[in-house]
Amino acid sequence: MSNVHLLDHPLVQHKLTLMRRKEASTNSFRRLLNEISMLMAYEVTRDMAMQDIEIETPLEPMHAKVIDGKKVVLVSILRAGTGILDGMLSVIPGARVGHIGLYRDPKTLTAVEYYFKMPGEMEERDAIVVDPMLATGNSAVAAVERLKELNPKSIKFVCLLTCPEGVKTMQEAHPDVPIYTAAIDRELNSHGYILPGLGDAGDRIFGTK
Ligand code: URA
Repeated sequence: MSNVHLLDHPLVQHKLTLMRRKEASTNSFRRLLNEISMLMAYEVTRDMAMQDIEIETPLEPMHAKVIDGKKVVLVSILRAGTGILDGMLSVIPGARVGHIGLYRDPKTLTAVEYYFKMPGEMEERDAIVVDPMLATGNSAVAAVERLKELNPKSIKFVCLLTCPEGVKTMQEAHPDVPIYTAAIDRELNSHGYILPGLGDAGDRIFGTK
């Protein structure tokens, strides 16, 4: 699986296991997702471009490096993407935010768009698309397709969990977009859920079940 970055750091794996448990409360699920998202942000921004600025330490002036956080746009696929977005924003506070509203047609499992709002000057920005579950891959493919119309400098896709079917669909449609994930689970069931997975990420984040 080329272009897939498996984030197998023990802290990420430990927190993911706690989230998968059906006993995990909404509160702890959300908190753990927030923490994992911060750790994922650390990995996904590893090759981020930096610039030199002039500062003064208490002893002398120097040139020092900073990230231009405003050039980064975090693109959240509604609604579950919000869970990752919050954690990532706490470590990249200068990032801009875009939203794509997609729902899965329960019969066809295809993605239907109902909302799309991005910051301006997208051609100058590095986009990080976030959605906890890369399952059928249909939403991710549709979101990236829409985003590409705005020609961002780069696109990365971050999820918490995926499966071989989701990776295949995404890589066939967008081989240029790297996928960052904490796990590649066994398979997709006939309802489009990842097995063993963690259930419906949106319901677990928002307590709507
Ligand atoms: N979306 C979810 O929330 N969970 C899955 O297992 C698949 C898609």
